[in-house]
Amino acid sequence: MTDPIFDLISQEEKRQKETLMMIPSENYTYPEVRKAVGSVLMHKYAEGYPGKRYYQGNRIIDQIENLAIERAKKLFNVPHANVQPYSGSPANAAVYFGLLEPGETIMGLALAHGGHLTHGHPKVTFAGKYFRSVQYEIEVPRVPRGDGGTNCFDFEKIREMALENKPKIIVVGTTSFPRTLPWKEFSQIAEEVGAYLLADISHIVGLVVGGVHPSPVPYADVIMSTTQKSLRGPRGALLMVTDKGLKKDSEMAKKIDKAVFPGLQGGPHMHSIAGIAITLEKASQPEFKEYAGQVVKNAKVLSRTLVENGFELVTGGTDNHLMVIDLRNSGVNGKEAAEKLEEEGIVTNKNAVPNDLNPPSVTSGVRIGTPALTTRGMKEEEMKEIGEMFKEVLIEKKSVINKVKELCQRFPVP
Ligand SMILES: Cc1ncc(COP(=O)(O)O)c(C=O)c1O
Repeated sequence: MTDPIFDLISQEEKRQKETLMMIPSENYTYPEVRKAVGSVLMHKYAEGYPGKRYYQGNRIIDQIENLAIERAKKLFNVPHANVQPYSGSPANAAVYFGLLEPGETIMGLALAHGGHLTHGHPKVTFAGKYFRSVQYEIEVPRVPRGDGGTNCFDFEKIREMALENKPKIIVVGTTSFPRTLPWKEFSQIAEEVGAYLLADISHIVGLVVGGVHPSPVPYADVIMSTTQKSLRGPRGALLMVTDKGLKKDSEMAKKIDKAVFPGLQGGPHMHSIAGIAITLEKASQPEFKEYAGQVVKNAKVLSRTLVENGFELVTGGTDNHLMVIDLRNSGVNGKEAAEKLEEEGIVTNKNAVPNDLNPPSVTSGVRIGTPALTTRGMKEEEMKEIGEMFKEVLIEKKSVINKVKELCQRFPVP
């Protein structure tokens, strides 16, 4: 008898083909990456780093890891890259454990304001429990509709928080923030208080590589990125140290490497690292720039269509690949909206909005994005169609499932 797990995989593949994947952190990777990730590389133990392994048999493995490292350094223009973190959360942990003593202070963006759990969310995360955490916020009432990211932050307030709390690391990075990240302003504050600046570009990495979001390289000391989101790679993460970081602390690269292994991890997932190497090569091609540009164009059209159809968006729109619909005036909460959309084949996630009164299991928002739809080849016209569908489902309570199916058929998963 065949293991039922294979039937479940087929069902999941069908679901991914027949629904609109609109969770902004999800994407379809390349067939070549899937081949590498399912390859014999997963059999090999390679604790250590190229040329310094604790196991024999790593002559070929070393070449694979070195290729991934060299491609990351070249693509991002950084002097040091570590490709071993298993995913984004352990990569952020490695930065904290590498550069901080337990109990020292991290300052990051609050979860409901667009930050990630690992940026110091209190009580329930390692970052909030084993380090002292202070959290800054975005300034919702100050945000003019359709304006860029700089206006979302009150830098004087953030500076005062930094001067008072003396964080050793300031984290700038987001998981549900739709605007351009103002690297320079944050780096000035970090310099003034003597903090390291960690840029977590997990969400926007594809846009940074594609030239449609400013790169943090001139401003940050350390950069972390997951590889499975807008970069279209396998699950995994990159940790990079910039020239600025090395100038501040010539041992920084060593500290980060030691925190990854042996500090937090054992054997690297060589199959994923090979997939990352393939992804980095693809991301260096002109086609990827086109893709990244289209992701942003699509998000702008989608957000405009939603606003025209009466939806409120956090910060009024988007500059990047995602947007958060603020449902507080719409008579439906985040959970209900996400469930209703899923019934119609539109897969999103409930998401807290700034100053949300609903608990995280309910929320008052829905987060959506365009990376996966753009991978399927959808463009502005389709975004308008999809924006209309949100109105039909959430406001007019109509069914759009047949339209979704038809759209999915027209744009097959590559
Ligand atoms: C900004 C940011 N950092 C870190 C992570 C954590 O990555 P992972 O889910 O791979 O642990 C995420 C994932 O959602 C993220 O959005």
